[in-house]
Amino acid sequence: MTEIEWDDSLSVGVDLIDEQHKMLIQRIKDLSEAVGSSRGRGQIGKTLGFMIDYTEFHFSTEEKHMTKLGYPDFDIHKQQHEEFKSTLSHMVEEFEEDGATAGLGEGVNTFLINWLVTHIKSIDSKFGKFLQEIGFKG
Ligand code: FEO
Repeated sequence: MTEIEWDDSLSVGVDLIDEQHKMLIQRIKDLSEAVGSSRGRGQIGKTLGFMIDYTEFHFSTEEKHMTKLGYPDFDIHKQQHEEFKSTLSHMVEEFEEDGATAGLGEGVNTFLINWLVTHIKSIDSKFGKFLQEIGFKG
């Protein structure tokens, strides 16, 4: 089971984004728990779907605000989102073919969590600074 917990080190200084990150972390934890405790394929597929849906929703929220507010680093930020979504798609394909393998658990507990923490602390926090500087109230 994963150890990830939201704490202040993950705050980007904007409530709207922080709240969505907390929810995203919860969805990843739910998925990790489902895979780690060898729940049935249906249940794991469901938690995987919930996590992917929320990821899409969250990325769209950030991108919508970036576009609306003329964020200068939009392209590089969106590219990271697209790469992550592509990795998730591969993960789903593997799950559909092979079920909840050790590789899936490893993917969730290392890749997803490491990617998210790194993304939040670097690229999202830069966007958070931009939002704070322009006085964004989300
Ligand atoms: Fe919070 Fe750029 O994802």
